[in-house]
Amino acid sequence: MTKIPAKIVDLINEQIKAEMESAYLYLGMANYYSEEGLLGFTHWFDKQAKEEMEHAEKFIEYLRRNDEKVILFDVKAPAVSYTDRREPLAEQLKHEILVTSLIYKIMDAAVENKDYRTIEMLRWFVTEQEEEEENAKALLEEYEFCSKDNATLYALNNKLNQR
Ligand code: FEO
Repeated sequence: MTKIPAKIVDLINEQIKAEMESAYLYLGMANYYSEEGLLGFTHWFDKQAKEEMEHAEKFIEYLRRNDEKVILFDVKAPAVSYTDRREPLAEQLKHEILVTSLIYKIMDAAVENKDYRTIEMLRWFVTEQEEEEENAKALLEEYEFCSKDNATLYALNNKLNQR
């Protein structure tokens, strides 16, 4: 197999950890909303967490396919509590913007190293991150519209349960 540059392999291994930490972060948020009795929000974040594990798997499979070594690092534990129901939603948006910057960092290195195979693989993540940021932003905005009224908050909670 054509070798993937060592620096890119390192960055992808770090990204596997970042994706698993994202999953942990969102599982923590799902737990928080479960404690708050907002099970639609719990469902939303459980789904987010599963998606993050799928992202990690995509990177793992990419390294395996190319006969490169996968390294699984320790994963940092997420926050266990939040000051209010808005905080995890704002955190989610901030976190997705951070993840986009990590994907761009790998892309920059791939372009610099003329690693066309990795550039091709990363295209999916570039598109995915746009969607992830959009979804997080939309949810935060929706929450801000309805958070002061229990009936509309309940309706949003039910909508999230349909995801
Ligand atoms: Fe894997 Fe939500 O980025």
